[in-house]
Amino acid sequence: MVNKITVVGAGNVGATAAQRIAEKELSRTVVLVDIAEGTPQGKGLDQWESAPIEGFDTRIIGTNGYDETANSDIVVITAGIARKPGMSRDDLLNTNAGIVKSVSEQIAKTSPNAILIIVSNPLDVMCYVAKSVTGFPRERVIGMAGVLDSARYRSFLAEALSISVHDIQAMVLGGHGDTMVPLISYTTVSGIPILQLMKKEQLDPIVDRARNGGAEIVKFLKTGSAYYAPSSGAVQMVEAIVKDQKRILPCSAWLQGEYGMTDVFLGVPVKLGKGGIEQILEIELTADEQAALAKSADAVREPMSVVKL
Ligand code: APR
Repeated sequence: MVNKITVVGAGNVGATAAQRIAEKELSRTVVLVDIAEGTPQGKGLDQWESAPIEGFDTRIIGTNGYDETANSDIVVITAGIARKPGMSRDDLLNTNAGIVKSVSEQIAKTSPNAILIIVSNPLDVMCYVAKSVTGFPRERVIGMAGVLDSARYRSFLAEALSISVHDIQAMVLGGHGDTMVPLISYTTVSGIPILQLMKKEQLDPIVDRARNGGAEIVKFLKTGSAYYAPSSGAVQMVEAIVKDQKRILPCSAWLQGEYGMTDVFLGVPVKLGKGGIEQILEIELTADEQAALAKSADAVREPMSVVKL
């Protein structure tokens, strides 16, 4: 357990993440921050009142300022606007960049040693904004995307094969968008390569569905985007850090030569422990996968080059 975790953005993703963090007792205090007056206070109080029933001792508080967040160990940034039908993640670019910039400035002042987990979209560019504004080292600015994209892919595979989600290992790398790169060669069922259990023609539509998993939910919800699985993804990363689990998870990281790429945030396998990103794993990719990853990096660099810092 750490002392304090702040979640910025008390909307769907942020509030759900705060509740999950408290239920797992990952910190003594959870601070929920939002610009909307009353929202973080009301949600935080409501969540804390579930403590006697759920049986957690974590104290959740809500606020519109940053004083209460001082010296947070981990800060999860979910502030921003969510996608509406027909909007791509990149449509959110300048609005969310302004929001993530102002949040990051405050956090750098009040919690200079925090590890940041970014959830706001477009994800990889928002990581770049947060890293540029805070000046934090790359070990402490981590994007949540791969865990979510992989979870979607694993869910669909479990359904297609009619087996437990526990036994499916899979990783989706690259940017959090249409160019994401599901690694078929590393998709296994209890170590059995997926193509021994399913034909490529059966797998392709599943990969496509995972790629469009966010849009599928936006289409249903109409007024917002996914939040149960995204908050689960963020909290799995928080837990790996808090418990120093040294888990290998696909996360967006600032590359400095890995996979032949420099100065770009991209989803890659990392080791997560108490220091944040403790290692970036460089695994062998097929020529197609390497090419897809390079294409994905280009898709991240384009908005990066126009975003206002
Ligand atoms: N500081 C703090 N909170 C802010 C700020 C800010 N400057 N600007 C906006 N917010 C808050 C809003 O008031 C709102 O409560 O961020 C919250 C966002 O919540 P939702 O609209 O419910 O959006 P949500 O579904 O949680 O998604 C948030 O995560 O997955 C991504 O694409 C998604 O970028 C979006 C983000």
